[in-house]
Amino acid sequence: MAPKRIVVLISGSGSNLQAILDQTLEGQINGKIAAVISNRPDAYGLTRAEQAGVDARLLDHKQFADRESFDAALVELIDSYQPDLVVLAGFMRILTPELVRHYHGRLFNIHPSLLPKYKGLNTHQRAIEAGDDAHGCTVHFVTEELDGGPLIVQAQVSVTPDDDAASLQQRVHQLEHQIYPLAVQWFCEDRLSLSDAGVELDGELLASSGYQYTTR
Ligand code: GAR
Repeated sequence: MAPKRIVVLISGSGSNLQAILDQTLEGQINGKIAAVISNRPDAYGLTRAEQAGVDARLLDHKQFADRESFDAALVELIDSYQPDLVVLAGFMRILTPELVRHYHGRLFNIHPSLLPKYKGLNTHQRAIEAGDDAHGCTVHFVTEELDGGPLIVQAQVSVTPDDDAASLQQRVHQLEHQIYPLAVQWFCEDRLSLSDAGVELDGELLASSGYQYTTR
C-alpha cells in the first residue's frame, strides 16, 4: 500500500503535530507529512516542521480581507501538496463550508473534550466547573458543524478534586498525543473511513461515541 500524503494545519505549539511526525519517521504510520501550514507566524510548530525537514508554510489570515478569501487560498496551498489526509492539529480557525466539503472524509480534527460535550473553547475549565468526574479528548472527522463531526476515537481521564484547568489540560494533552497518531495510523492503513452510515473501522461501524481508547 502506497504511503499516504498528509498535510497538517496548526496555529501554535504543534505538540500533536510532533507526535504524528515522530510516528511517521519511526515507520508506525504508513504516511509522510508533506507540509505543515500555519496561519500564525509565531507558531512553534513551524520550527518543529523545519527541524524535521518538512515543508513549513505560513499563510497569515491577517493578510486576507475575509474568511472566504483566506480559505480559498488555503485550499489552493493544501492541494498543491496533493494530500490524502488533512489533519487539523490545534488549528484555531473556523472553516468555511466550502473548505470542509472539499475535504469530506479526509479531514480530521482533535478537540480537548469528550465530544459532544464542550464544543468551543475553555473545555478544561468548563468540565471542572460542571463537576464532571471524567474529561478527555476526541479525534473526529470534520463536518460543517463546529466540533460536531462523526467521532473516531475518544480517551478519558478522571478529574480529581485538586485538579485545575492547567493540570487537567496537561493530562488530556498526553492522551491527545496517543489517540491522534492512532487515528492517522488507521486511516493510512485504509482501515478507517467515513460513510453515509458513520465511521467505519476495519469494516465495522463504530458507535457514535467513537472507539474508546484505554491505556494499559
Ligand atoms: C490541543 O489541545 C487541541 O486539542 C486543541 O488545541 C491544542 C493544540 O495543541 N484544539 C482545539 O481546541 C480545537 N478546537 P498543540 O499545538 O500542542 O498540538
